[in-house]
Amino acid sequence: MSRLLHPFSYASKAEADYINIVSGEGVVLTADDGKQYIDGIGSLWLCQVGHGRREIIDAITTQLNQLATYNIFDPMTNNVAAEAADLIAEKSPHPDGRVFLGCSGSEAIDTALKISRMIQQRRGAGDKQIILRRTRGYHGTNFGGTSAQGIEGNREGWGDLVPHFIEVPSDDLEAAARVFSEHGPQIAAVITEPIQGAGGVHMPPDGYLEGMRRLCDQHNSLLIFDEVICGFGRTGSWFASQTFDVTPDMITFAKGVTSGYMPVSGVIMSKQVAAELEQPGLKLMHGYTYSGHPACVAAAIANINVIEADGLVDRSHHVGAEFEKGFSAMAADGMIESYRGTAGIWAAELGHDALPIRDRMLELGVIVRPIGTSLAVCPPLTISDAEIAQMIEAMATALNELAPERTSA
Ligand SMILES: Cc1ncc(COP(=O)(O)O)c(C=O)c1O
Repeated sequence: MSRLLHPFSYASKAEADYINIVSGEGVVLTADDGKQYIDGIGSLWLCQVGHGRREIIDAITTQLNQLATYNIFDPMTNNVAAEAADLIAEKSPHPDGRVFLGCSGSEAIDTALKISRMIQQRRGAGDKQIILRRTRGYHGTNFGGTSAQGIEGNREGWGDLVPHFIEVPSDDLEAAARVFSEHGPQIAAVITEPIQGAGGVHMPPDGYLEGMRRLCDQHNSLLIFDEVICGFGRTGSWFASQTFDVTPDMITFAKGVTSGYMPVSGVIMSKQVAAELEQPGLKLMHGYTYSGHPACVAAAIANINVIEADGLVDRSHHVGAEFEKGFSAMAADGMIESYRGTAGIWAAELGHDALPIRDRMLELGVIVRPIGTSLAVCPPLTISDAEIAQMIEAMATALNELAPERTSA
């Protein structure tokens, strides 16, 4: 038995039973047995630019050669971290805001939750501590993110979580309004993914995000968009806040900021939130050893430049149109019940357990992610039409073989 303990996995499973990925180029991964796979989920919803991009690898290598590591706790800084923060802010709806850096989405979430409570404390609203979360929301697995999760199974079994979280049903703005009318003076913030990703790729109902913005404004609560999946071109704009034209007070990001080449995450704060932190004499008593890690943020800068140079934000619309074509044909044939998503993130609703279909698709050389009765796709935005067609064909083959009663419907 290997000593490696895998995340979200059965510790009893033998290391030899895992698929051992040894290399990647473009959208194609190769395992140790030589078998090739289309990376239809972009590692874990993140590899916008595809694998093996020289520009990013060279930028990381250059930075490692110059300065591999150093912290940016006061009084230190490095110009790579400052440049990355500027670049990220410029692409966001808060170009004049501030950017805090971490390594994981979970760190970004905990940072945003802590800062939202800190801001309310500083405003004198000491009992404004409640965070509203949505059913199906996924916000990482640190204690803050676990408490913010709307996926029950991920919250259970850890003992007491962080207090003062209230869950609202995902798509019910009226229910959120009722919680606000009852607890408004105590609500510090709402946290939501603009498109719920790991919970099954669920689009926000029309007017939902706008409604949350309104409720937050009415009750002096902060709106946090968790764009750990949605950011960096995934939804057709740099950020989903821009896709849906709703501006939150804070945006958490990770994943696509480096396409996964190095671990970087962070929180973008509005000018107003930043102004509260910029009060003279106020010291931020929060941070991570690897905040602004030079080799990591060098990957972010290079990755953002690749997304720009390759026009991948625009290209995500084309990718979306190709998936929609494939899924609508499968729905018309009765192979899938429905589909949902936009641009570079989609789910096909099967109406039955998706795991056996995923397993068969792996045999056919295509990686997708099963979430209950749906299959999620979130590939590199560089994916070709032929590769999308190959993914759709593998899904159709697996469904034809394993769910034949649906095809004859
Ligand atoms: C929306 C969202 N938030 C937070 C996280 C947590 O990120 P990490 O796994 O890097 O801690 C994830 C990870 O999938 C995510 O999808």
